[in-house]
Amino acid sequence: MTTTADRRVGAAPDPETLEPAERMGVDELRALQLDRLRWTLRHAYENVPHYRAAFDAAGVHPDDCRELSDLARFPTTSKADLRDNYPFGMFAVPQEQVRRVHASSGTTGRPTVVGYTERDIDTWATVMARSIRAAGGRPGDRLHNAYGYGLFTGGLGAHYGAEKLGCTVIPVSGGMTPRQVQLITDFRPRVVMVTPSYMLTVIDEFEKQGLDPRASSLEVGIFGAEPWTEQMRREMEERLDIDAVDIYGLSEVMGPGVAQECVETKDGLHVWEDHFYPEVIDPVTEEVLPEGEVGELVFTSLTKEAMPVVRYRTRDLTRLLPGTARPGMRRMEKVTGRTDDMIILRGVNLFPTQVEEVVLRTPGLSPHFALELTTRGRLDHLTVRVEARPDCPAERRPAAAAEVAQAVKDTVGTSVEVLVVDPETLARSMGKLKRLYDLRERTGA
Ligand code: DLL
Repeated sequence: MTTTADRRVGAAPDPETLEPAERMGVDELRALQLDRLRWTLRHAYENVPHYRAAFDAAGVHPDDCRELSDLARFPTTSKADLRDNYPFGMFAVPQEQVRRVHASSGTTGRPTVVGYTERDIDTWATVMARSIRAAGGRPGDRLHNAYGYGLFTGGLGAHYGAEKLGCTVIPVSGGMTPRQVQLITDFRPRVVMVTPSYMLTVIDEFEKQGLDPRASSLEVGIFGAEPWTEQMRREMEERLDIDAVDIYGLSEVMGPGVAQECVETKDGLHVWEDHFYPEVIDPVTEEVLPEGEVGELVFTSLTKEAMPVVRYRTRDLTRLLPGTARPGMRRMEKVTGRTDDMIILRGVNLFPTQVEEVVLRTPGLSPHFALELTTRGRLDHLTVRVEARPDCPAERRPAAAAEVAQAVKDTVGTSVEVLVVDPETLARSMGKLKRLYDLRERTGA
């Protein structure tokens, strides 16, 4: 059992505790990936009619994959392909071998359904356990899991990984914020897993109850499921006195635990490449971009049985970088946004994360903000509503608003309207936060 005395907070795990794949050199890893990739392509082609039709239409066969770069010849897969095969058409094994399904909420139309065999669930727990350990969690830790349980992959994904690592899981799920604070205070967890936006709500609740969040037992926060910035990391590390690290994943590829930031470097997320093969493509031409260039992240699963994915287009924007804390595995830079979250305002591209960066470095403003797109005259208009911090003097507000507007103009190159509003007036999330409200008038069709 781990005791407090020999625990190294914020330190790298003992190398002895790493899995062999985490210690592999690049050449060994590439050989393993090629073997697994060839298996995946055959498995998908032979068992999923969609892939057989798509490969045939593109004139490629699994046997054409002789080296990893041959993957670029295979067609990409999109969310629409999953929707068209709703609910179980993308499954590659008979239904009795599917132990569990999850589904993404799907704001429009049908949800996206994903499935797991027993072995897939074990693989998922393994990569999640690896992620928690890389984040600074250790066997014996108590772990407060406030990701939502249910069809969303966050709750159960984190849960099984934490158990596999040897943690004591407190399966709270999202919501009932005062109780989150009570459970953290009474059960004294060392690790918290939750979306960054909901963590902020919980921190505010601590303060409302007159408790000092810095005095809580928490030492490590594993935050993901939505984009968050370096400024937000600083905000949470300061207000909670913890190490805040990023976790990435998506249901179509597995769930949380596809990539994880290491606590000792906090320099982007190592992709667990023995199970997930990353590419970054130009979102328009689909051309594979070289390491270091920003584009759309694409994943091919390497070991998934129930629902293999080949070149799945995540719509997430990032770039690949060489490994650091795990030298064999590439890193992905923190995701700046999704292609679908990009606001095109009078010809200029803007992501909510760019506003977050500006808001958080402006004195007097809280991290709670919302974006509203409307039509004024014939032009799109963006209103940024930001809550003042409770201790922000009323006379500071107009200046803070002007500073945000100016900084957005300087960094992004477009004009926005900024309104500083009272604390506690904007909607809070219990999971993923909706930042953007698009109220533009639709013309034409
Ligand atoms: O959000 C899985 C997850 C749960 C990841 C808990 C991390 C923690 P989905 O609901 O399918 O799965 O949503 C996946 O969320 O394509 C990204 O756009 C976004 N996303 C996930 N993690 C991050 C992150 C889960 N660390 C979609 N940074 C992805 C930025 C993220 N965006």
